[in-house]
Amino acid sequence: FGLQRDVDLHLKAYLSHKDMSRGSFSDKPWSRSCAGGRIAADEVPIEHQEFFTQNSDVMERILRRRSLQLRNKQQEWQESPEGQKMVEFRRSLPAYKERDALLNAIQQNQVVVVSGETGCGKTTQIPQYILESEIEAARGASCSIICTQPRRISAMAVSERVAAEKGEKLGESVGYKVRLEGMKGRDTRLLFCTTGILLRRLLVDRDLRGVSHVIVDEIHERGMNEDFLLIVLKDLLPRRPELRLILMSATLNAELFSSYFGGAPTIHIPGFTYPVRAHFLENILEMTGHRLTPYNQIDDYGEEKMWKMQKQAQSLKKRKSRLTSAVEDVLEIADFRGYSLRTRESLSFWNPDSIGFNLIEHVLCHMVKKERPGAVLVFMTGWDDINSLKDQLQVHPLLGDPSKVLLLACHGSMPSSEQRLIFEKPEVGVRKIVLATNMAETSITINDVVFVVDCGKAKETSYDALNNTPCLLPSWISKAAARQRRGRAGRVQSGECYHLYPKCVYDTFADYQLPELLRTPLQSLCLQIKSLELGGITEFLSRALQPPELLSVQNAVEYLKIIGALDENENLTVLGRNLSMLPVEPKLGKMLVLGAIFNCLDPIMTVVAGLSVRDPFLMPYDKKDLAESAKAQFSGQEYSDHIALVRAYEGWKEAEREQSGFEYCWKNFLSAQTLKAIDSLRKQFFYLLKDSGLVDQNIENRNKWSHDDNLIRAVICAGLFPGICSVVNKEKSIALKTMEDGQVLLYSNSVNAGVAKIPYPWLVFNEKGYFDFWFHIHVQSNFLLYKS
Ligand code: CDP
Ligand code: MG
Repeated sequence: FGLQRDVDLHLKAYLSHKDMSRGSFSDKPWSRSCAGGRIAADEVPIEHQEFFTQNSDVMERILRRRSLQLRNKQQEWQESPEGQKMVEFRRSLPAYKERDALLNAIQQNQVVVVSGETGCGKTTQIPQYILESEIEAARGASCSIICTQPRRISAMAVSERVAAEKGEKLGESVGYKVRLEGMKGRDTRLLFCTTGILLRRLLVDRDLRGVSHVIVDEIHERGMNEDFLLIVLKDLLPRRPELRLILMSATLNAELFSSYFGGAPTIHIPGFTYPVRAHFLENILEMTGHRLTPYNQIDDYGEEKMWKMQKQAQSLKKRKSRLTSAVEDVLEIADFRGYSLRTRESLSFWNPDSIGFNLIEHVLCHMVKKERPGAVLVFMTGWDDINSLKDQLQVHPLLGDPSKVLLLACHGSMPSSEQRLIFEKPEVGVRKIVLATNMAETSITINDVVFVVDCGKAKETSYDALNNTPCLLPSWISKAAARQRRGRAGRVQSGECYHLYPKCVYDTFADYQLPELLRTPLQSLCLQIKSLELGGITEFLSRALQPPELLSVQNAVEYLKIIGALDENENLTVLGRNLSMLPVEPKLGKMLVLGAIFNCLDPIMTVVAGLSVRDPFLMPYDKKDLAESAKAQFSGQEYSDHIALVRAYEGWKEAEREQSGFEYCWKNFLSAQTLKAIDSLRKQFFYLLKDSGLVDQNIENRNKWSHDDNLIRAVICAGLFPGICSVVNKEKSIALKTMEDGQVLLYSNSVNAGVAKIPYPWLVFNEKGYFDFWFHIHVQSNFLLYKS
C-alpha cells in the first residue's frame, strides 16, 4: 500500500509535468469522441465562429437561403404520394391534436413539460413539430434542436423513424449521436443523442451555443444523467433566455418536474389504448397445467430446508444496517405469503430467476399453440438472461415449427441490423416473440404486440451507502412499471398480459421506482460536477430534484481523494481532469492513464473496455463446464480473469485477420458481439488518450511492455486499488477478506472460483456486490461476492 502511494505521487508529478492546461483540450475530445468515422466535422470551430460574428450579414444571408431551401424541400415531400400517406399517419397520432397548444406554450415559456401515454407521439412528433414550425417561419437553418434519450438504441431507432417520416436519409436534417457511433451532417437541425453525449458537450460548450431547443425525453425514468442534466440546465436557462427546454414524460407525475422549474406549464396528451386483461401467477399456472401449492403442504421439498432458510433470512434482517433490497427480497421470498411454486417438471421454489425460464417457456408454448395471432413481448431482467433464453427457445420442442416463430432479442447493446426486425411485421402465420429488457417499457414502441409476459423484475443498481457497496441485482419493478408493461399489449387491439408473480407480490411493489441518483455510487458524477466547474459538490447535488444522501456524496468524494482525482480541498487534480474526459468509471480511467504512461497500452485498453462493456465469456447453463475450461485455458497459470480477457481478445483479433473469428468465438464460448464492442471502445480510448498527450509519440514504444504480465497486473492493481482482498488457502476452502475485513466469495464465473488453491496472496477486484443471494445464503451466511 505504501507502493501505491508512491505510484500516486509519481503519477501526479508526471501529469503536472505534462502540463495539461485546460485550454489545450479545447473542443477536441468532443469532436474526437465522434470520430467513429461517419460524422462530418460539423460543429463550427471556435476560431471560425468569430469570423461569422464579425460578418453577421454574410451569415444571415447564408442562413436565410438555407432556410428557404429547407422549406421547399419539406413542401415537396409532403405533396408527394408517400409523403401524403405519412402526413396522414402522423395526423392520426394523439399528439397531433395538441400540436398548436404545444407550439404556443413553447413559444411563450422557456420550460414546458409534456406528458402522455407511450406511443402517443411524443418522441417522434414533438421535435418534428418544432422543426417544422421553425422551417415555416423561415428560421429552419438557424434552429438546432437536441433531443436526449436515456439509451443509445432509442436514439438510433427514433432518429431513423423521424428521418423516414420526413422522407429523408438519416444524417440530412435529422441525425443521431451516441457513444462510438453517429450520423450527422452539415444540415442536421434535429439531433437525437444520448443524455451522456449532451453532458460531454457541456464540458466544452457550457452555454450550448447555437442550440435553440433542448428536449429531455423519458424524464419519468429518473436516470442519474437526466437528473444531473436538469440541474445543469436549470442553471443555464437564465444565461440563455432564448433557449427553450421541453421535458417529456410517459407517466403522470409531471407536477414534480413542473414545480422544479418554477411552475412550468404542463401539457398532457390524452392517449388511447385498448383494454388489456391482466393474469397473475395464480391464473397462469392453471392455464399451463401447473399447481400452486400452499406452503405448508409441501412435503418433498423438505420442511427442514425451508425452515433453515427462513432462519437465515431472519438473521439477515437482524443486521439492520445492511438491510438492502436484496435482503428484503430474501425475506419476502422466504415467507412468500405462504405459497410455494411447484411445477410438474421441476420443483422450483419461488425464485424468479429459475422459475422465470421454466415458466416463460411454458407460457410461450401455451401462447404459440392456443392463442390468437399477435406478437409477444417478454420483459426479462438483462442481456445475459435474454440470450440464454433465446438459445433455449430456439431448440424448444414445444414451440413447434421453428419457421413459424420469429425470436428476437431487444436490449441496449444489440446491433442496429437486428433492431429493424423488431419493428417490422412478420409474415402471415409467423409469430414474433421479442425478448426485451425494461427498455421496451417506454422508450420504444412495437406496434403489433398483443401479448406481454412480465417477469416482474428489472436489473437495477442499488447502492448501500452504509457499507459503500453497489450491487446490480434483479429487483422487483414498481407498480408504475408493471402497469406500463401491461399497457404495451393494447396498442392495436385488446391484449393480454401475463405477470409471472402472484397478485399478493404485486401489491407489495412500490408505486414508483427510486431515482437512480439515490441508489448508485456518485463518483463519476462528482468528477463531472468538478470538471464542469459547477461549484461545491455537496451544494450542487443538494439542488437536485431529489437530492442524494449526504453519506453517499461523502463516500464518493472520499473515494476520489483516495485515488488522487481530487485534492484535499476537493479541487480537481490533473489526474482528475484526465479522468473526467474518459467515458469510464474513474478507477478504470486511472488504469488507462497508467497503461499509457507505462507503455503497456494495448492490454490495458482491452481490460478496461472489457470491464466497462461486459464479460465476453459466455457461460451457457447447459455447457458451463466446457465454457469454464475454455476460459481457464486463456488464463493458464496466471489465474487471472483480466489476463484471460486480454488473451481471448488478442486471439480473436488474430482469428479475425484470418477470417475465422466466428469459429474462434464458437469454439471458445466467446461473444463476438461483445468483442466487437470492446474493439470499438478501445479505439475511442486510444483517440482520447492521444488527445490528452499521454500516449507515447513513438509508436514502437507504446506497447514496449505489453507482454510483461507482471507490469500489467501492477497497472490493473493500481487502478482497482483499494479493491483488494487477501487470500488464505485453507485445507478445504479458500478464505477471502477485503481491506475492511469483510468476508467475501468469488463470483462463480471467475477462473479462480472452484480452484483448489490460489497461488497468490492477494486478488484485486472490480465489482463487489450482493449477488445471487439465492445460492449464497444456502452455502454460507455471508453473501458478498467478487469478480476478480
Ligand atoms: O414517444 P412516444 O412513446 O409518445 O411515441 P413515439 O415513439 O413518438 O411513437 C409514436 C408512434 O409512431 C407509435 O405509436 C408508432 O405507431 C410509430 N412509430 C413507428 O411506427 N416506428 C418507430 N420506430 C417509432 C414509432
Ligand atoms: Mg417516447
